[in-house]
Amino acid sequence: MGSTLAMVGATGAVGRELIAVLEEREFPVDELRLLASPRSAGTEIPFRGEALRVEVLSEERLAGCDTVFFSAGGDTSLEWAPRAVAAGAVVIDNSSAFRYEDYVPLVVPEVNPEAALKHQGIIANPNCTTILLVVALGPLHAIAGLVQVTVATYQAASGAGAQAMEELRSQAAAILAGEEPQVSCFPQPIGFNLFPHIDRFLPEEDFATKEEMKVVWESRKIFGLPNLQAISTCVRVPTFRAHSEAVFCSFERELSVADARAALKAAPGVRVVDDPLAGRYPTPREAEGIDDVLVGRIRPDPTRDRGLSLFLSGDQLRKGAALNAVQIAELLQ
Ligand SMILES: NC(=O)c1ccc[n+]([C@@H]2O[C@H](COP(=O)([O-])OP(=O)(O)OC[C@H]3O[C@@H](n4cnc5c(N)ncnc54)[C@H](OP(=O)(O)O)[C@@H]3O)[C@@H](O)[C@H]2O)c1
Repeated sequence: MGSTLAMVGATGAVGRELIAVLEEREFPVDELRLLASPRSAGTEIPFRGEALRVEVLSEERLAGCDTVFFSAGGDTSLEWAPRAVAAGAVVIDNSSAFRYEDYVPLVVPEVNPEAALKHQGIIANPNCTTILLVVALGPLHAIAGLVQVTVATYQAASGAGAQAMEELRSQAAAILAGEEPQVSCFPQPIGFNLFPHIDRFLPEEDFATKEEMKVVWESRKIFGLPNLQAISTCVRVPTFRAHSEAVFCSFERELSVADARAALKAAPGVRVVDDPLAGRYPTPREAEGIDDVLVGRIRPDPTRDRGLSLFLSGDQLRKGAALNAVQIAELLQ
């Protein structure tokens, strides 16, 4: 059975990836409506051999939709997602607008698929960094009980959108040409640089950034562990698409490296890449364009009780955003 789908933010980094993932996974679609702002109305985007024209987001174009994907920023979601629901659609929202509302499930299908079925019209897609983290920690939590997690991230330019990826390209070219890099999307130059500043600083959270708190708040909600001890430092690095994370965690029960590796090998959405002497460990380059989260460097963490450390890389436009959203839509079919 096919359906009518709309994509709000179809011209963006996440929107374009969503279109590609729908096509690849042969998601049943009778009609796909590509919506954005007036800036890009008329742009043509290919889908299943046809050039679809981008239209301006409107009540009229939301009417009659079964599912609407939103990836056009929090303000657009806040204004338009309730209208899409009122018109009879289920909304899968990529922004953070509704993630912390009790009535909105926050879903990673490998970890808490049952939550999706309790929706009241809106389902939130978690933050990219959180999705990659919980896909890797989910199988370990299932056998040993997660108690604490510390994360340092290495986040790609794509996390800030299509223009930000272009900014990395143009700054790298400018610096190589001996010119001053022009900064517009990021708070600092990103070409040949990195900075611990993603989203805004929150004085009420001891000056953690909102991105850092998203990892904490969202991991707690997805795992159903309101008391999970968690901290992250989120760093933007000059890679294009894939994020990486250095993860240190502790568990309720003993968890050997061998058992952790076996659980990760058996887990959906995870690929263990862990043969350091052969030069095999996760890298953002290897993670680019693939569905799985790569996990490696699995070793004991002697600095904490029943501790384990690992390193992961995952394509944040794909599993970190578009693929996870389409998998949520698949759960509803
Ligand atoms: N990048 C990521 O990895 C990622 C991951 C998870 C979630 N998200 C979230 O997904 C959303 C989009 O991110 P992105 O990276 O794809 O951003 P992006 O590349 O900057 O794209 C933004 C999209 O939103 C559209 N848009 C902006 N204002 C609009 C309005 N008033 N009405 C209708 N459409 C509007 C843009 O259309 P025009 O072409 O007309 O400007 C464009 O299609 C954000 O909420 C972001 O936080 C992003």
